[in-house]
Amino acid sequence: MRQVTLRLMPLIAGWAVLCSPIGSVHAAPPTEAASCAACHGAFGEGLPAENYPRLAGLPAQYIKAQLSYFADGTRKNAIMAGMAKPLSPAQITILADYYASLPVTMPAPAASVAPDFVARGQQLAEFGDWKAGIPACFRCHAAGGVGVPPYFPPIAGQSAKYLADQITAWQTGTRQGDPQGLMHSVASRMTAVDTQAVTAYLAALKPAAAVLGDTQPVLTGGVQ
Ligand code: HEC
Ligand code: HEC
Repeated sequence: MRQVTLRLMPLIAGWAVLCSPIGSVHAAPPTEAASCAACHGAFGEGLPAENYPRLAGLPAQYIKAQLSYFADGTRKNAIMAGMAKPLSPAQITILADYYASLPVTMPAPAASVAPDFVARGQQLAEFGDWKAGIPACFRCHAAGGVGVPPYFPPIAGQSAKYLADQITAWQTGTRQGDPQGLMHSVASRMTAVDTQAVTAYLAALKPAAAVLGDTQPVLTGGVQ
């Protein structure tokens, strides 16, 4: 009896470690996600310090599209190209459904955001800048940046550096495939300061109010 318990211990300990970041109700990660966990976390929480984005709560269709873009070079990233190319359509579906089903977690808060940045960031997010031809981010990404499945990913609470890198990637053309070139058009009008301000603002927003599925955004926070 004692021996059996001892033999099970590593398994139980491993399970506890896996569960601890969120410690709750969702299913165990599928085996397909094992190779993603090192960078994106067991529950898709991401690793902001290393610039690995959060996958939890991204719309399934958006995840599928991005994996195909990484594989065919529409979105250029050496690491993700290597990860995406070997995946079969069935594996992509399993991964996309898994990450889309997970609750959103927050990155560690940014050390400090200058008040000027917050004001400019909030202005761009909520109202845009008509003179510069920049539409409000929230017109497409929903109030609070919680996203609108299946096309508009949540941008609240993703790390500032990751968000800023994406704006730069659209400006330089290393990220493409966005529906109707919408993000390329927005990004091409933004200055470096705008990018820094709006991404600092977005990174500090709490996305946890939104639990996003592919069809039904359920908002439990202030935004309805
Ligand atoms: C070695 C680290 C690493 C591993 C392992 C890895 N990724 Fe990534 N992933 C990244 C990085 C870095 C990016 C950001 C790329 C960029 O800036 O365009 C990314 C981006 C993504 C995105 C785009 C997210 C968004 O918001 O647009 C998806 C989807 C994704 N990864 C899925 C996966 C899946 C599924 C796996 C496992 C099969 C995986 N990744 C394994 C590092 C990794
Ligand atoms: C006209 C609609 C529209 C507006 C306005 C808009 N976006 Fe987007 N955004 C999109 C779409 C569509 C995508 C998904 C692109 C894709 O599928 O490749 C996206 C994706 C993104 C991403 C990538 C997220 C990820 O997980 O990789 C970032 C970052 C982003 N938008 C930031 C912004 C910011 C900042 C603003 C405001 C300055 C903004 N967007 C305004 C339509 C819009």
